[in-house]
Amino acid sequence: MTLQVGFVGTGGFTRFHCNLLSKMEGVQVRAFCATRLEKAEQAAVDWNGAVGYDSLTHMLDQQKLDAVFVCVPPMAHGEIEYALIERGIPFLLEKPLGLDLLQPADIASRIQAKPLITSIGYHFRYMDSTQRALELLKSRTVGMALGYWMGSMPKVPWWRRQDGSGGQFIEQTSHMVDLLRYTMGEVEEVYAAYANRVMHEKEDGVTTPDVGTVTIKLVSGAVATISNTCILPGSGPIGLHVYTDQGVLELSDKSLKDIGRASVCEYANQNDPYIREHEAFFHAVRTGDTSRILSIYADSLRTQTVTTAALHSAASGLPVRLDEFSG
Ligand SMILES: NC(=O)c1ccc[n+]([C@@H]2O[C@H](COP(=O)([O-])OP(=O)(O)OC[C@H]3O[C@@H](n4cnc5c(N)ncnc54)[C@H](O)[C@@H]3O)[C@@H](O)[C@H]2O)c1
Repeated sequence: MTLQVGFVGTGGFTRFHCNLLSKMEGVQVRAFCATRLEKAEQAAVDWNGAVGYDSLTHMLDQQKLDAVFVCVPPMAHGEIEYALIERGIPFLLEKPLGLDLLQPADIASRIQAKPLITSIGYHFRYMDSTQRALELLKSRTVGMALGYWMGSMPKVPWWRRQDGSGGQFIEQTSHMVDLLRYTMGEVEEVYAAYANRVMHEKEDGVTTPDVGTVTIKLVSGAVATISNTCILPGSGPIGLHVYTDQGVLELSDKSLKDIGRASVCEYANQNDPYIREHEAFFHAVRTGDTSRILSIYADSLRTQTVTTAALHSAASGLPVRLDEFSG
């Protein structure tokens, strides 16, 4: 059965997903929805018979879609999800879930009431190296972890605005928070310090912090810090280093290094995690079996809770306990 797929958003990551889908059997991209009709029609040009729309309602009324990919900035979430939930259309949504916690929590409860198949783009979970780390961690005691997302500021204008992206920790570094939860379990408390050091003087309209560090206590008793910056002139380290009683597991976006007392083993990713993510989602849409989807909306809500609590902690200067935090 060929699945009919639509896209909301026509930016960089829609192009990325579309490129992979163009090589996948059994999937036909039928429609694109953008903020302007020209953009949507331009995106549709590459797909034989695909149609561009500037209204999601028109797209969903006129196309019989089996699934929709949502690739829009954090500030644009809400109405899109509500429309898809109401019509019962499964969706793969690019992280993060939104700017804050209140709206995602409401969306999560409506998804659960339906229920509806969802997949969230926390693709680090699908890396071979992450799965290998999970295996190794079964026989180790974790003490702590250090996570990083160090780089430059993306050029898209919404990213630099707090009311556009929610800031780097919510928008980008949430990948590391999600990886921390996936490998080490749930978070109990966060304490964050953020600052504006460089970018607000270098670029116009910057309202997001450009450096930050978040101290995390986990339910297991382990501790972690996850830090980020976007002041670098180019890319910097991205990853999560897990310190255990049998050495360090260094997860990056490409591989896992298992650093023991006298040896270093490196496991490079053999498979593309985004293809795995697509396969798991489409398998669920075809069969109803969601067991291969490694990140669903309800689970990602917990990652969103951690990143939003960190923002509140940075603003108040106080630690935030997650069981007392509702956004
Ligand atoms: N998982 C990953 O590795 C990864 C990588 C890059 C981006 N992303 C995520 O993907 C999302 C989109 O990023 P991008 O790089 O494509 O951004 P982008 O700025 O290139 O594109 C965003 C698109 O969304 C459109 N848009 C905004 N509001 C809309 C609305 N209400 N309806 C329809 N379209 C709307 C914009 O016009 C634009 O075409 C972000 O949340 C980002 O974090 C994930």
